[in-house]
Amino acid sequence: MRHVPVLLQEVLEALNLEAGKNIIDCTLGDAGHAEKILELTSPDGKLLGIDADAEAILRTKQFLYKFDERVVFARDNFENLRNIVKENKFDNVDGILMDYGWSSPQFEERGRGFSFLKTDEPLDMRYDTYLKCMHEAVSPPLTPDGRPIYGPCSAAELIDHKDVEGLSEMFRKYGEENLSKEIAEAIVEKRQAFPIETVGDLVDVILDVYRKKLKIPTESGQAEQRIPWVGGLHPATKVFQALRIAVNDELGVIERVLPQAIEVLKSGGRLAVITFHSIEDSIVKHYFKSQNNKTIKIITKKPVICSEEEREQNPRARSAKLRVIEKI
Ligand SMILES: C[S@@+](CC[C@H](N)C(=O)[O-])C[C@H]1O[C@@H](n2cnc3c(N)ncnc32)[C@H](O)[C@@H]1O
Repeated sequence: MRHVPVLLQEVLEALNLEAGKNIIDCTLGDAGHAEKILELTSPDGKLLGIDADAEAILRTKQFLYKFDERVVFARDNFENLRNIVKENKFDNVDGILMDYGWSSPQFEERGRGFSFLKTDEPLDMRYDTYLKCMHEAVSPPLTPDGRPIYGPCSAAELIDHKDVEGLSEMFRKYGEENLSKEIAEAIVEKRQAFPIETVGDLVDVILDVYRKKLKIPTESGQAEQRIPWVGGLHPATKVFQALRIAVNDELGVIERVLPQAIEVLKSGGRLAVITFHSIEDSIVKHYFKSQNNKTIKIITKKPVICSEEEREQNPRARSAKLRVIEKI
C-alpha cells in the first residue's frame, strides 16, 4: 500500500510553490508530497529527494519517472544535508520539507521490525537498509563494549548491549513508558537464557511484565493469550516507539539538520517540518524560536494540525504537527 502523505494541502501551501521553484524533500518516503510538489513546480522546477532507505529510493522511481531529469535522488541520512546539497550542486533552494518517521511500506512490508504486531520479523528498526546489508555482509569492527563502530545498531543489538539502567532510561525518555524499569529488568533476565532477536521475543517479555502487574494469570488457559490493553494501547507501543527513536537517533538528527536547512535555503525560502512526537515538536519549536527575527521568520505561530476529515481518513495524521518558517 502506498503511504498517504499527511497534511498534504497544508504543506503545498506552506512552501509557496510555483513554476520553476527548487525544493528539497529530506524524507522522500513514498514520494506522496514530492509528486505533488513536482506537479506544482512544472515545467522546470527541480526536486532533490533524500531518503536513508535504499528501498524507498528505488520504489519512488516508479512514481517520479515521469518528471525525468527534474528529480535528483540521494540515498543518505538527511543529517548530511549540507554535503548532499553540495555534492549534487543543488543551488537556489526555494523550499525544504521534512516529514519525520516511517512510511507505511516500511512499517507494513519490509520486514524491518517496526510493528509489534509482526512477531516473526527480526528486531531491526533501522531505516537504512544499506547499512544493514553492510552489517550482514562483513563483520564490522567493534567498540570495546561490542558495538559496531559504524552505522546505527539494530534494535536487537541495543536490547542486547544496554544494562537495566540504560534500557529503562531509553523506554522512559523516548516512550514515556510507566513500567520502564520492570521491562528493562525482565529483558536483562530473559536475555541470559536466550537472545531477544525477533519482534515476538520482545513483545512476549513486555506482555509478561504487564500481565504480572495487572495480575492476569499466565499459567494456562485463555487468559495466558490475552493482551492486556493499557488505555487503548497495546502494551508494546511505547517500548517500540522508544527503540525506534534510539536506534535511528531520531532526535539527534533533527537537532543537527535544522541549522543546515536554514543555511542552504535562499533568502525568502520556506522550511516546512512535520513531527509526530511531542519531543520532536519541542526540538523544532525551540530551535525556530531561538532563530526567530535573526535568521528566520516564524510563519506558523501555532503548529498546523490535520482537519477532522483527514483525522478520520488517516489515523497517522492525528499526531502530526506542521511548523513553517521563512529564511530572512
Ligand atoms: C513519513 S515518511 C515520508 C513520507 C513522504 N512524505 C510521502 O509523502 O510519502 C519518512 C521517510 O523518512 C525517511 N527517514 C527517516 N529518518 C531519516 C533520516 N535521518 N535521513 C533520511 N531519511 C530518513 C524514512 O526512511 C521514510 O522513508
